[in-house]
Amino acid sequence: KQEAQQQASAPQAAAPAAGGEMKEYVVGTDASYAPFEFQNDKQEIVGFDMDVLTAVAAKGGFKVKFVNTPWEGMFATLPQGDRDILSSAITITDERKQSMDFSDPYFEARQLIAVGKGVADVKSFADLKAKKVAVQTGTTGDEVVQKLLGKTNPNIKRFESMPLALKELEGGGVDAAVGDNGVVANYVANNPQHGMVTVEDTKSFAPEYYGFAVNKGNKELLDKINAGIKAVKADGTYDQIFKKYFGT
Ligand code: ARG
Repeated sequence: KQEAQQQASAPQAAAPAAGGEMKEYVVGTDASYAPFEFQNDKQEIVGFDMDVLTAVAAKGGFKVKFVNTPWEGMFATLPQGDRDILSSAITITDERKQSMDFSDPYFEARQLIAVGKGVADVKSFADLKAKKVAVQTGTTGDEVVQKLLGKTNPNIKRFESMPLALKELEGGGVDAAVGDNGVVANYVANNPQHGMVTVEDTKSFAPEYYGFAVNKGNKELLDKINAGIKAVKADGTYDQIFKKYFGT
């Protein structure tokens, strides 16, 4: 029994499947990122990314098993062999491409600002210059805020998850939070009692594209994922999933 538990807490990358059987790949995700990845009341990992990748796998001829994985250190689990795929609303960036391979993009996002109750003087990103800003450590939100405030500025408050950053904003510990639009908008809409509002600034933030990540050089798996993405986009499955989560 102990052995089984140990295996459950440290999943190994998929072993080659025997004759004709579909391979099951271990997928890492930081499941605190609704609506992209979160845990339902049964503690199952669900969300837009799970629906898309599960549909992609069905088309690509493989199986997936989602494992909750902290954002910090997530990228290292690929070369370590603990995860085969990362599905975590990950923005494809040139820097990240140095250390892992990305699928074709499957979602377009942008940074969005949320400001706390009573913070009336933030109309654009530049207005955050002298503010206290919460971000999730090591995200593209962290990167853009660093550019504006300076990397070592103590007014940048870094949190290991996006909900923790947004809780800090709720409690008034910071003036603003910056993160992926889908997640920030979702959180603000679901917590109206705290009086947070979002401030869009499409001029200051470039579009970002999410991709599924695999270990560098894992072309076999990447090809299957990309074939699956093409197929779910072509047959309307992707649009259905998009509608389910974003309503348009
Ligand atoms: N898209 C952003 C990035 O790649 C944030 C992703 C955070 N994902 C998560 N599941 N916490 O940096």
